[in-house]
Amino acid sequence: MNNIIIRPFIKEDRKSVRMISYETAFLGEDNKNIFADEEILADVLTNYFTDYEPDSCFVADDGGKVIGYIIGSKDIKRVRKIIIIKILPHLIVESIKRLLLFNKNDVRFLYHVLLSFLKGEFSTPDFSKDYPATLHINIKKDYRGKKIGKGLIEYYLSYIYRQGIRGVHLGAISEGAKNFFLNCGFSILYQSKHSYLRYILKQDTPYYVLGKLLCYNRNLEI
Ligand SMILES: CC(C)(COP(=O)(O)OP(=O)(O)OC[C@H]1O[C@@H](n2cnc3c(N)ncnc32)[C@H](O)[C@@H]1OP(=O)(O)O)[C@@H](O)C(=O)NCCC(=O)NCCS
Repeated sequence: MNNIIIRPFIKEDRKSVRMISYETAFLGEDNKNIFADEEILADVLTNYFTDYEPDSCFVADDGGKVIGYIIGSKDIKRVRKIIIIKILPHLIVESIKRLLLFNKNDVRFLYHVLLSFLKGEFSTPDFSKDYPATLHINIKKDYRGKKIGKGLIEYYLSYIYRQGIRGVHLGAISEGAKNFFLNCGFSILYQSKHSYLRYILKQDTPYYVLGKLLCYNRNLEI
């Protein structure tokens, strides 16, 4: 593991980041059985970050191979705005173009996501005032548990601190991810349950919003 470095994202990393995001999307469940269209899923998970705010993205690199990433934003409000005005329209057009290619699993997944949405399961309190930054982190399976995640988090927190941002928050959909963030000094701001994977897992998945304040105080800056 000695060769592993954490470095800023470059555009050549885009493909690897998208692939890892797809591989890690569903709590280790076989993705093909849940949502097979890799491009659409990777667009949903990474497009804003890699294409609209690449300066806030960082990768873990093992001898030239990307084995993990943290993709983030300094401003969650901007993320939401760009997703609504740029990314969502593109995704709708792409989905319609490929509708005939969608297999029935993809349609079933989208149906369950829509049900969860209509039940209000994706509504959360707005934490953007105190915790304006956000992040997503994923490490390839073989590289987990080797402190790479913690290294990426420290690197990212130092980056947003230097940008003068007071806090960061994120959503986590597993107990493991929640425990990792608690270990990294985050606190639970909100918790609920999501039902959109119940048809596969036979149970609801937990949903946590975790946050960390960076105690930024301009008066203390020299
Ligand atoms: C969650 C994840 C990012 C953690 O990265 P990692 O490199 O495996 O974790 P680290 O080795 O840096 O662990 C740091 C600390 O967190 C703890 N930790 C990590 N994963 C944990 C888990 N699943 N449950 C409990 N504690 C965990 C470690 O024990 C370690 O504790 P220590 O510093 O006291 O020894 C990584 O495992 C991953 O990508 N998982 C799959 C996708 C995912 O859940 N992503 C998060 C989406 S919000």
